[in-house]
Amino acid sequence: METNSQDFAVILAAGRGTRMKSDLAKVLHPLVGRTMVGHVVAASQEAGLRPVLVVNHQEDAVRKAFADGDVQFARQEATRGTGDAVASALGALPATGTVVVMAGDAPLLQAETIAALRSAHGDAAVTVLTAIVDDGGHYGRLERNDSGGPLRIVEAVMASPEQLAITEINTGLYCFDIGWLREVLPTLEPHAPKDEVFLTDVVERASSEGRARVLIHGELSEVLGVNDRYELAQARVVLQRRIVEAHGRAGVDFTAPDTAVVHHGVQIEADVSIGPGVVLEGTTSIGSGSSIGPHCHLIDADIGANVAVHSFSMCVSAKVEEGASIGPYARLREGSLVCTGAKVGNFVEMKKTRLGPGAKANHLSYLGDATVGEGANIGAGTITCNYDGFDKHQTTIGSGAFIGSNSALVAPVVVGAGAIVGAGSVITKHVPEDAVSIARGSQTDVEGAASRFRSRKKRT
Ligand code: UD1
Ligand code: CA
Repeated sequence: METNSQDFAVILAAGRGTRMKSDLAKVLHPLVGRTMVGHVVAASQEAGLRPVLVVNHQEDAVRKAFADGDVQFARQEATRGTGDAVASALGALPATGTVVVMAGDAPLLQAETIAALRSAHGDAAVTVLTAIVDDGGHYGRLERNDSGGPLRIVEAVMASPEQLAITEINTGLYCFDIGWLREVLPTLEPHAPKDEVFLTDVVERASSEGRARVLIHGELSEVLGVNDRYELAQARVVLQRRIVEAHGRAGVDFTAPDTAVVHHGVQIEADVSIGPGVVLEGTTSIGSGSSIGPHCHLIDADIGANVAVHSFSMCVSAKVEEGASIGPYARLREGSLVCTGAKVGNFVEMKKTRLGPGAKANHLSYLGDATVGEGANIGAGTITCNYDGFDKHQTTIGSGAFIGSNSALVAPVVVGAGAIVGAGSVITKHVPEDAVSIARGSQTDVEGAASRFRSRKKRT
């Protein structure tokens, strides 16, 4: 039977995932910027299919995760096995035609593989994607008949030692003739001890009718089914390598590719270099010519071209314009804007603050709810005291102003353009433009007092 681009993919995502030992539904576990089942949904859509998610366990959370996507849902009333799960989705499918069935816990399968399976399917009742592995582990085994054709799938829990020795395993990706499936699914017998109906049992049925097909997949990095936290970690490694490879081919230089964490959705232009241990998440984008030093963490950050983000810096929902320099050890929090050519040095924290073009805050400062004008210089240890215990207040620093080291600017307060604030000042009032303001205890010098003090203290 011909497949067409309006075919559906039924994605099984109703199970509890007990082996994850987690309060979070298995299929919702995060994997490089998507949920586990999000990868399966994306692959089905890339293959031109319309996904139908079978849900039960934590179904509200699963539905919510795909609320804005083009995804349909089918409810499995009780999780009575994969055969029952597919039966629950039949109502969402056309009467006849072809359907792809995917496991929500096999996040590594790619769209091209789904396409290959569909073309292998032809007029079969079922086509199974298998793989040859060293150790079949907990996977179902594909048993073949004397002439080498598919005979049945045996689940590991029910297999004899001879069957367990079979190295051809069921990946959990199938194509089905929908009309045939409608007839066969209701006739499957549940298996003890959990009374589960195995989708895999349909293979023996199709085989007896001469309508079972198998496609052996050679790419083992795609077949992993995730059932526990270690398999989740392994899936992460594979997905991470794919993402790094795609960026690498597009001109991004990873100095230690196996240590970088780059999520789906992150955009990196060509000619960017990414150091070891860098983590890039969310909607982060990085412009051409920029470098992100070792161990930086960027979430929803907008980094312009030719920016240097030095080691151990963190940027969350912050924007850094062209040619600016950040860190090492800088922290840009939400709503920070570092304008063109500005510099943020070590141990500087910014929140909801605009640092104007060419301005500098090079050492040990907190700038919160502040606007800093073009070319201003913020001395080491400057603090904008933005919080009075109840409300947040604004600090405005004019262009070209110079704030001496270890000054506290008690907001709301304005320092006029070109003004100079003496080191160690506590500024509580408006500093006029071009003024020099010093607000600290004045210095007293008592000549010769130090040696008099020492001789008084000397014991004879
Ligand atoms: C299943 C296959 C096995 C195959 C393996 C590939 C069966 C009986 N076995 O085993 O041959 O090698 O996948 O990874 O199909 N689910 C539901 N409703 C249910 C039960 C499961 O939606 O009632 C969903 C789960 O959420 C999961 C998927 O189906 O996403 C697979 O179920 P799981 O229990 O993990 O099957 P395996 O034991 O891995
Ligand atoms: Ca599984």
